[in-house]
Amino acid sequence: MSTESFDLDQLKSDLAGKNPRVILRAALTWFDNIAISFSGAEDVILIDLASRLKPGLQVFTLDTGRLHAKTYRLIETVRERYPIRLDVLSPDREQLEALVKNKGLFSFYKDGHHECCGIRKVEPLRRRLRQLDAWITGQRRDQNPTRQNLSEIELDEVFSAPDHRLIKFNPLANWSSAQVWDYIEAYDVPFNELHRKGFVSIGCEPCTRPILPNQHEREGRWWWEETGKKECGLHAENLKTAEKA
Ligand code: ADX
Ligand code: SF4
Repeated sequence: MSTESFDLDQLKSDLAGKNPRVILRAALTWFDNIAISFSGAEDVILIDLASRLKPGLQVFTLDTGRLHAKTYRLIETVRERYPIRLDVLSPDREQLEALVKNKGLFSFYKDGHHECCGIRKVEPLRRRLRQLDAWITGQRRDQNPTRQNLSEIELDEVFSAPDHRLIKFNPLANWSSAQVWDYIEAYDVPFNELHRKGFVSIGCEPCTRPILPNQHEREGRWWWEETGKKECGLHAENLKTAEKA
């Protein structure tokens, strides 16, 4: 399907509240040139669901160079377990070397995570998304104050180009964390061992920590920063929709 011929409002209401499998089936039927963006955490269920619908589907992960060792292990387990084409994407070497040379390896604790995330995650993501018509993420509405207005399908206003509309699917948008974990248990889906150690939301090692009972999962991410700013640039449009609400 051409992204130009999309009636996005109609599709939004068609997919609202639907099961992740239904949303994935629609996404994979409408788009050939589509990929899953896999973080190495509980979004592994997208791969479990989607690889049953379309063997050989494209999956990519952004290797920031700072992921937890257990995340790298999960990525390789997933590569072996599922019939997927998995790309591990690296940051631009020159930009990364300049950042580390000028500011060291932990600049984000002093001046915020955006510069480092920009180089280690957003730039490689932008490069990959330029080659796609649509992408699929594991975001959920229950994850973050900035994600409460998330739709199952949206126009990616951040990564679309003037001559190229990019569609973004969030098939887990209306699932809770409990539903995700029921699925992982029921279907024996491999998961990141860090989840056994109190980690809930998992990102880079220096920017992720376990949480206490009853803390919100995002409290373990960039804990030295304000709650309303916890988007790293992969999903920056969430900040706009959260502000409007
Ligand atoms: S983040 O923006 O705060 O880091 P989060 O960890 O909640 O995002 O993950 C939400 C979704 O963003 C994941 O399900 C995945 O689709 C995508 N994502 C996050 N980190 C990565 C990564 N390192 N590689 C690929 N996709 C990622
Ligand atoms: Fe850098 Fe932390 Fe962002 Fe990872 S999460 S890219 S280490 S600032």
